[in-house]
Amino acid sequence: MSDRLARGDPLLNTDAMLAKVVSATQDDGAELTTTQQDQIRGLQQTYKWGLAQVALIAKAVKAPEEQVRQFLTPPKPALHLVKPAPDIDSLICNIRAILQLADHDQATLTQRYIDVGRLLNDLKATCKHGEFERLLTQSFPDRSLSTLHEYKTLATSFDAADDETKVQLAGDFKHGWKAVLEKLRNLKRRAKKPADPATIPDHLSKRTQIIHGNCLDVLPTITEPHILVSDPIYNIGMRYDGYDDNMPEDEYQKMLTEVFKGHPAVITLDPETAFNLLGGGILGRCEKIVAWVYNSNLPNQFRLVMWFNCKPDLTRLGQDYKNPNDRRIAKRIEEGFEARLYDVWYIDIVKNVSKDHGHPCPIPVELARRIILTTTEPGDRIVDPFCGIGTIPCVAAALGREAIGIEQSEKYCRIAEGRLGTIMDELGMKDEAALEAAE
Ligand SMILES: C[S@@+](CC[C@H](N)C(=O)[O-])C[C@H]1O[C@@H](n2cnc3c(N)ncnc32)[C@H](O)[C@@H]1O
Repeated sequence: MSDRLARGDPLLNTDAMLAKVVSATQDDGAELTTTQQDQIRGLQQTYKWGLAQVALIAKAVKAPEEQVRQFLTPPKPALHLVKPAPDIDSLICNIRAILQLADHDQATLTQRYIDVGRLLNDLKATCKHGEFERLLTQSFPDRSLSTLHEYKTLATSFDAADDETKVQLAGDFKHGWKAVLEKLRNLKRRAKKPADPATIPDHLSKRTQIIHGNCLDVLPTITEPHILVSDPIYNIGMRYDGYDDNMPEDEYQKMLTEVFKGHPAVITLDPETAFNLLGGGILGRCEKIVAWVYNSNLPNQFRLVMWFNCKPDLTRLGQDYKNPNDRRIAKRIEEGFEARLYDVWYIDIVKNVSKDHGHPCPIPVELARRIILTTTEPGDRIVDPFCGIGTIPCVAAALGREAIGIEQSEKYCRIAEGRLGTIMDELGMKDEAALEAAE
């Protein structure tokens, strides 16, 4: 069988060889001798093992993973060798051969699909423009195109990971390739690289503007009719990039008034600030208040969502029944009914904020979704003067509204722009994204 196949299935026939490297009486977790290490390196060269196989090898030779990782780390190559270009037929042949191997354990299958993905990437690079999809359909009629594409993504993302991540992921191979792919996708989401404009759907970028600046300067330049929807600064010493969230109270009140007074505006705030600074009709008439309730370890467990100079229509959305075990309610759920939307909304706050999102307090997409759907129509223009990493403008655009976000931190603006590439996914609306893109 080809060399590539051996690479695709690295431990298929080699468990027995690895077992011979150690004696039967050797203790689990014992350090390997230099001779044993040399023997394993010999096998490594034959089978082209990389760091991804460390966990499997360590298990087979009963040695500590860290030791195996150290002596398998490849030395930096002295020369750049030119690889001969693979030809299309042999690539297809090798992919087919790997896919036809009999079922094996999940860890081996995962490794196998990474290799299939690598070969598919080579194949795509070798094909003429437009030929790749046709070749896949012709050559692998029993495989779904989307799964083959997922193998490609799996290989690309795995190969792009750093060595330490690869070693950790190798430990997850036993959970199957889908789990590894999901983990790689999560890692990518967390990495929050600056937006790659190519990954942002056209229809969303056309509807959205993220403006870097001070909202007090930018708002007067927006002359088209719009509604303000915002989760503004709370003036509680939050650690934002480039902004000290600590104004004297009268200045803070003046700022909120300057931004929101007289406008149709939906604002989230903690109840004390709302009562002390925005009471008495200072911004105009408050038409509705909803309590946004969440679980947290903080003393405050709810915030207010307030509609000034505009009203929501809460009958537009439903929510889960509170008593699903009641016999009559269970029947209604079975028939597809939902409870009406009350004025208390239970929506969890976003967890691991700074680490995963790059901002200390983004609001949940579900909160933005409810406000936007109950208050505005498709095509309406929504402006968030304190947009942070863009939750409100991105959700607004995903729901077919025109959206403008204003943010003082350039870093948050870049994250907000990048979020247009993931927002449909965050909202569970991936299919709608595909439909829009096809139109
Ligand atoms: C509570 S956060 C908004 C979070 C946002 N809702 C999200 O989900 O990402 C308030 C944001 O206002 C920004 N900010 C503060 N003063 C500003 C100003 N004068 N103009 C524009 N943005 C400002 C802060 O940098 C911060 O990101």
